[in-house]
Amino acid sequence: MPQVLFAFDNVSFGYVPGQPVFNKLSFKIYSGETVALLGANGSGKSTLLKMMSGLIFPQQGIFKAYGQEINEQRMEDDAFSQKYHLKVGYIFQNSEVQLFTTRVWDEIAYGPLQMGFTTKVVKQRVEDVLEMLQLENLRDRSPHRLSGGEKKKVAIASVLVLNPEVLILDEPTSGLDPKTEKWLVELLLKLNLKGRTIIVSTHNLELAHVLTTRSLVLAESHELVCDGLTEEIVENHELLTAVNLIDEYSHIHGNIEHIHRYTHG
Ligand SMILES: Nc1ncnc2c1ncn2[C@@H]1O[C@H](COP(=O)(O)OP(=O)(O)OP(=O)(O)O)[C@@H](O)[C@H]1O
Ligand SMILES: [Mg+2]
Repeated sequence: MPQVLFAFDNVSFGYVPGQPVFNKLSFKIYSGETVALLGANGSGKSTLLKMMSGLIFPQQGIFKAYGQEINEQRMEDDAFSQKYHLKVGYIFQNSEVQLFTTRVWDEIAYGPLQMGFTTKVVKQRVEDVLEMLQLENLRDRSPHRLSGGEKKKVAIASVLVLNPEVLILDEPTSGLDPKTEKWLVELLLKLNLKGRTIIVSTHNLELAHVLTTRSLVLAESHELVCDGLTEEIVENHELLTAVNLIDEYSHIHGNIEHIHRYTHG
């Protein structure tokens, strides 16, 4: 039986009093899974991923990771929070908020240095990740002056360098060209084969399909309306239309009616 990694038990959360984003949400994620969080803009994907990453906490109900309740008090303990962030890596939807140094090399080295690894180990890890992500030629550049896709790669590198057990990626392929997107999917699949749990949020059904086995679907009302196999969910046009993940319209050319389905990318 795989280990339960994250367990949400009747979790409620809202940023503004009286405007809940989630109301009594319950589900589990198991170690080693590949999971997509699907939903339209504003459905709550980033909010849910932030909770898994220990950045925000339930206002009601219980969120457990590795069998332990994760709440504000526990995360205020520096030793606990450091250990948690070492195991659970989070890549923000917006790379800008993740990058803060003046050099790509320093950006990637920051996490391992904070975690107290020796200089020698840090150097080795940074070099390995630069090579793995093909970022060697950007090592001395300022992260803020990179292109959007390059920034994303540096943000991913700064998390992968810690070799986390769980990778939480919020819209990982937004802003990536098709070749880089394919490369990232292959990298994530390889990491999954090595036992890493991969959780991504996306409204890109193609990405969900190639990368994940299971999908959780959030409606615009922020409710979890489906939890099932990705390969079945991407074929469920009724569900996907209802949650605004595909627009469906038809038009007529002569006597022939065509149904067009447009997938958000
Ligand atoms: N910091 C915040 N303060 C107040 N409301 C917020 C905040 N962040 C998000 N929200 C609201 O919470 C809801 C869920 O937002 P969230 O960012 O989780 O959605 P999302 O599914 O990630 O959307 P997107 O696809 O656009 O990234 C939205 O209604 C949003 O307006
Ligand atoms: Mg989001």
